[in-house]
Amino acid sequence: MDADEFRELGHALIDWIAKYRETLATRPVMSRVVPGEVRTHLPKQPPARGGGANDLPGLLEQLVMPGITHWNHPSFFAYFPSNTSFASILGDLACAGLGVQGMSWQTSPAATEVEEVMMDWLRQMVGLGEGWTGVIQDTASTATLGALICARERASQFAQAGPGLQGDAPPLVVYASAQAHSSVEKATLLAGFGRAHLRSIVTDDNFAMRVDALRGAIADDITAGNHPCAIVATSGTTNTTAFDPIAAIADVAEEHKLWLHVDAAMAGTAMIVPDCRSLWAGIERADSLVFNPHKWMGAGFDLSAYYCRDPQHLIRVMGTNPTYLRTLQDGEVSNFRDWHIPLGRRFRALKLWFYILDVGVDAIRARLRRDIGNARWLAEQVAATPPWEVVAPVPLQTVCIRHVAPDLDESALAAHNLAIARRINDSGAAYLTPSIVDGKQIIRVSIGAETTERAHVAALWLLLQNVAAGTV
Ligand SMILES: Cc1ncc(COP(=O)(O)O)c(C=O)c1O
Repeated sequence: MDADEFRELGHALIDWIAKYRETLATRPVMSRVVPGEVRTHLPKQPPARGGGANDLPGLLEQLVMPGITHWNHPSFFAYFPSNTSFASILGDLACAGLGVQGMSWQTSPAATEVEEVMMDWLRQMVGLGEGWTGVIQDTASTATLGALICARERASQFAQAGPGLQGDAPPLVVYASAQAHSSVEKATLLAGFGRAHLRSIVTDDNFAMRVDALRGAIADDITAGNHPCAIVATSGTTNTTAFDPIAAIADVAEEHKLWLHVDAAMAGTAMIVPDCRSLWAGIERADSLVFNPHKWMGAGFDLSAYYCRDPQHLIRVMGTNPTYLRTLQDGEVSNFRDWHIPLGRRFRALKLWFYILDVGVDAIRARLRRDIGNARWLAEQVAATPPWEVVAPVPLQTVCIRHVAPDLDESALAAHNLAIARRINDSGAAYLTPSIVDGKQIIRVSIGAETTERAHVAALWLLLQNVAAGTV
């Protein structure tokens, strides 16, 4: 492909993406293909000769679209919002077009410096103090792994430089609520703590970590000769968007000199709305935090913002210094390769920059308020319509509900609610997530696609009622 062909095919592809977005609402939200179906339409062997890339929109439409679940659809209520705004698509395109590796400042100074400024804009947008320094990572999972590695090294006084975790020091222990995301458990295992040293702390009636239970677990570990190391608190749990009490947890962390990492993957974006900031009161006392502009905000996947208080510690843990990576500017610039696990890094900041430039903070804040308002409206409708019930508080945009049909025992109710969710997902009219909360099968409605207006939420509510009543 030469530059002229690229120009022509590129225009066709942009037209196709624009049309896809314009007609998105007419497609079934969840893909209807069966396992293996997409694969069967692709040749088993790679082509020996090129020239097959001249109708990319045609290929996408024919082979790919049937296997796409439409995350930017206005009736997408599953998992979490994953907004990819037009401006951020252009940022990703520019990133690919430039094709740079921003591993060191020198390998593309703009990649580092635009990222530094974007992380600072984002810090201000969510109301964090100047003591936080940010770096872009691919996902919250990776960021949490990095945080726990930093915690491990601080608690073990840099055991990585010697025996690692294979010396004879007492085992290090990590604490997280029973509602923490699976990435916390994964990070604990991958960072070498071992499952035996992850304490799952019980939650209260609102699904937030119980600080008395946290204190009890730490005391038990000290008595047993273990070494409490880190607490992972969640601001906005996956199931119900519950908020662990950061200030009280920070008291415990300070008392015992534990690392406090806050996982705000989905809900961090809400802090752009000042009224929401009380939900993570105490955040300034954490050591690290992560949130994902690639979820509710609008900068497309993947773009996770990791903030820490002590970048020098991060660099000491993650830094490498082989001769072939040394540059003249080392010592006076940030070399972001030393701020996380991968060496190579894309110029992801472009998509965040383009997005913020295009939309502006006021409009982002207004949209978040709209979504929170829509979630409250849905919760009110559900609460006012027995035997429907809302099973968890609704601090933001996630509404967990269930239909308590009369005369059904718990297992029949579970089957009934699961069937409602599956029926809706199979219909293509909307897509939501069945889950289990407090032992109960629930239907989880996560509101927040850029295109979702009140009318779409109202249509979902009508559909839920009709499916539960068996009238559709
Ligand atoms: C609270 C929480 N933490 C972490 C994650 C994982 O995010 P990522 O896909 O960026 O690793 C999620 C995703 O749903 C989440 O809800």
